[in-house]
Amino acid sequence: MALYSEKVMDHFLNPRNVGVIEDADGVGEVGNAKCGDIMKMYLKIENDIITDVKFETFGCGSAIASSSMATELIKGKPVSEARELTNKAVAEALDGLPDYKMHCSVLAEEAIRSALEDYEKKQGIQ
Ligand code: FES
Repeated sequence: MALYSEKVMDHFLNPRNVGVIEDADGVGEVGNAKCGDIMKMYLKIENDIITDVKFETFGCGSAIASSSMATELIKGKPVSEARELTNKAVAEALDGLPDYKMHCSVLAEEAIRSALEDYEKKQGIQ
């Protein structure tokens, strides 16, 4: 069996939503101290809906595939749904990640949560 699923390879080689949103409503940046990988998420939110999302990931292929899939999973969704997104759901949507690469999907979950916290802070919700 191949180490990585076709979906992982697809999102790694053709990542969706790469880039920056200059006037983002929420920005989150997280990193993994062990591997040194960094992920940054930008959210545009209107009427509680995530209308746009972009990411920049300095990291491994699984981290790039996870960010790409995570952005696809939350785009067009309400904030409440995005907040519930787990790394497990990201990995499942990618048809799985090797065990030792699961932490890469955790970065995606954390980056989205951090961007949502930033959004809520800016809105005065927190
Ligand atoms: Fe660190 Fe993948 S090896 S995020």
